Amino acid sequence: MESAAAIVHMRDITVRFGSVVANDAVSFDLRAGEVHALLGENGAGKTTLMRVLAGLIRPVSGTLAIGSRPMRLRSVADATAAGIGMVHQHFMLVPSMTVAENACLGRPAGHRMLVDVRRAARDLAELSHRYGLAVDPTAKVGQLSVGQQQRVEILKAVYRGARVLILDEPTAVLTPQEADSLLDVLRSMVAQGTSMVLISHKLREVMATADRVTVMRRGRTVGTYRTADVSAPELASLMVGREVPVSTGPVRPRTGGDTVLELRGARVTDRRGVPRLDDVTLRLRAGEILGIAGVDGNGQRELAMVIAGTEPLTGGSIHLRGRDVSHASPATRIAHGLAHVPEDRQGTGLVLDLSITDNAVLEVAAHPPHSRRGWLNRAAMRAATQELIDRYDIRCSGPDQKVRELSGGNQQKLLLAREIAREPAALLVSQPTRGLDIGAIEYVHGQLRGLRERGCGILLISTELDEILALADRVAVLYGGRITALTDRADVRVEELGLRMAGR
Ligand SMILES: Nc1ncnc2c1ncn2[C@@H]1O[C@H](COP(=O)(O)OP(=O)(O)OP(=O)(O)O)[C@@H](O)[C@H]1O
Ligand SMILES: [Mg+2]
Repeated sequence: MESAAAIVHMRDITVRFGSVVANDAVSFDLRAGEVHALLGENGAGKTTLMRVLAGLIRPVSGTLAIGSRPMRLRSVADATAAGIGMVHQHFMLVPSMTVAENACLGRPAGHRMLVDVRRAARDLAELSHRYGLAVDPTAKVGQLSVGQQQRVEILKAVYRGARVLILDEPTAVLTPQEADSLLDVLRSMVAQGTSMVLISHKLREVMATADRVTVMRRGRTVGTYRTADVSAPELASLMVGREVPVSTGPVRPRTGGDTVLELRGARVTDRRGVPRLDDVTLRLRAGEILGIAGVDGNGQRELAMVIAGTEPLTGGSIHLRGRDVSHASPATRIAHGLAHVPEDRQGTGLVLDLSITDNAVLEVAAHPPHSRRGWLNRAAMRAATQELIDRYDIRCSGPDQKVRELSGGNQQKLLLAREIAREPAALLVSQPTRGLDIGAIEYVHGQLRGLRERGCGILLISTELDEILALADRVAVLYGGRITALTDRADVRVEELGLRMAGR
């Protein structure tokens, strides 16, 4: 059925990493002018397959053709020359350079670099206008927001002549508003002749944007479907190989537990004297989930950092189980029962070049049974890690594998597993299910509910309103660094919450 119109043909592609078969005789076709979504559980092999197409990984077997020409993509340069561009899960821009300089990188340089950059800036401005991708070519990349950097990655690919654009979970890092406008941009690019592969865990997005969808499971393709012919629940069960229960968080009236975490008039002022967190007063009780809703950039990061102890308070105080920890180190806070799942797992959450075991015991290694009289007990550490791997279904080759080699979603599962396993008194989680597949989201939500049942107080910071509504017992809105609303879940009116999040 895929014949004349296909511009990318991948046949029986097999990729191995040691003992892991990441792609097992996978076939995939992309037709000219379509959006083809790639869907599948964490670790299913989606990124790997597209890295083959982008010239980053050489498969052990299989064939690839662009149009009717059989190709051997040995490098990114080969793929670029063949008109293929990929925007990765983690961006690959140089922060100290301008947008235009980034676009020129990796091209045969030489004495014409300056002229090229000037011309690039002009061409980029033209392209950004054509596709509605607002970006200033002369801006330094390091000063751009995540959403803007992503637009730079897309522009860079198009500037280099990409006719096939691969996007790996592009909306995972965006606010809902940014995500909507990106999807509009993608549609306009397709209307102007670009063909697109969209890797995504968001079924709604797949259904709304893609013409066809290929589902992968454990390194193989399950099938390719027209989105017009399948439903979202059908796709979900194809992905995980079973029916996925749709969770409805029980809304229980809370009886007041002890206060585990309290902020009184917490304030953070940046170097220019601008308040980033303004007079925040919150009380988190044992056995409840308090959801902090809001659009990214309204103080979420600062709130998490002052509680974790990685950013100083400039006013007010923080108390953990009745103890003033306003100026305590992160380690002291951990010792007093705080656990923390930060938003950026690759920055502060995990050490990528260490093994799963080393990461799993990172903060507890100083205590028995992992250490006795200062000696680390490797065997105990590995056994404990293997248990986490089994319980959280972390797809890997074993406890000794480097975290860098795990798929994005499996890195996130590891981080959550480590923090939850410590049975903290208070858990601070930011964006816990970003990048997770729907089966894994279900599992993580179940774990968070279980932790709450066992009496942990959970402060859930999420820009996904659906997630807050599914889990939280009370909901607060953070806007412009202030708490602008605080309601019991049962009294929440969604429209009003939306307005508050928008600052009205
Ligand atoms: N460089 C690597 N070295 C070793 N193993 C790897 C490497 N890259 C990927 N893998 C493994 O290959 C498998 C597929 O990973 P891949 O990143 O393609 O999954 P994915 O479908 O993109 O998942 P996610 O939705 O979590 O991003 C995983 O088991 C992963 O651990
Ligand atoms: Mg991936």
